[in-house]
Amino acid sequence: MRGLWLGAVLLAVGCGPTPAVEYGEELFRDPKLSESQYNTFSCATCHATTATPEPGKVYAGHSLYNAASRPSWWGGYETRLLDAVNFCYTAFMRGVTPLAPEDPKSRALYEYLASISPDTDVPAQPFTIVKDITDVPRGTAEWGAAVYTSACLDCHGEAHTGKGRKTELAPVLPEVANAYGELFPGTSPGLVFIEKVRHGRFFGVGGNMPPYSREALSDKDLGALLAYLGL
Ligand code: HEC
Ligand code: HEC
Repeated sequence: MRGLWLGAVLLAVGCGPTPAVEYGEELFRDPKLSESQYNTFSCATCHATTATPEPGKVYAGHSLYNAASRPSWWGGYETRLLDAVNFCYTAFMRGVTPLAPEDPKSRALYEYLASISPDTDVPAQPFTIVKDITDVPRGTAEWGAAVYTSACLDCHGEAHTGKGRKTELAPVLPEVANAYGELFPGTSPGLVFIEKVRHGRFFGVGGNMPPYSREALSDKDLGALLAYLGL
């Protein structure tokens, strides 16, 4: 009898409709949302979903708490939520075809984002890209180690070894900078590094790393990070 009962329960779960919000959250945390076999990032790699910052964690993107209620996104650059999502999907997750509005995945993602957007009257989030790269004062290596753990460890793995990195495509830090002297003669490796962190894949830099805006990472934290990495 027990077996029969279990079977019935499983059948019921299997056949019942997955609530859209739950499916949307699953997609949010699943790199396989992207059809690219080389993608290892999910939305959750770069976005918190909480109202207040998570201690000890620095994300390149804003928290998406209340994101569905914002009047615009990407610093006013995107005025449709799905376009804001598709920007990430194609620029960072190697998605080839943008998610279409009628795609059940888009709908489920929307339902999930709406479920974590309880407030209706919220402002757009600031997004300040540092356009002109200049050197930053170095902070303390000790503080920099904490910044590394909060911001870079997840994707790049441990400093000097890359142990535990999310993708082999993310180079070992800071050793990748050893080649900068030859690659970018006349520019200090530290400056090249700052350019990468501030611009990610944009401004002709290439790749699929996200940029860190001023809101995401202060110059003070960046300076400490460079001190920790010996750059
Ligand atoms: C590799 C990192 C990365 C991934 C992966 C990523 N994003 Fe983003 N996203 C960003 C960055 C950086 C921004 C720009 C800063 C900001 O506005 O949050 C951004 C912006 C956004 C915004 C606009 C937020 C605002 O208020 O301006 C939304 C919405 C968003 N992303 C949703 C998603 C969703 C949904 C996914 C998964 C399909 C996703 N992102 C995947 C990095 C990422
Ligand atoms: C969402 C994952 C992710 C996060 C978070 C991330 N990176 Fe990256 N980073 C990558 C990937 C993937 C590459 C290789 C592709 C590229 O260049 O965009 C890369 C490349 C780099 C490069 C090398 C560029 C080159 O080829 O010379 C530097 C420097 C770098 N990251 C620094 C950082 C630092 C510092 C942090 C923390 C503040 C950080 N990254 C956070 C994914 C990430």
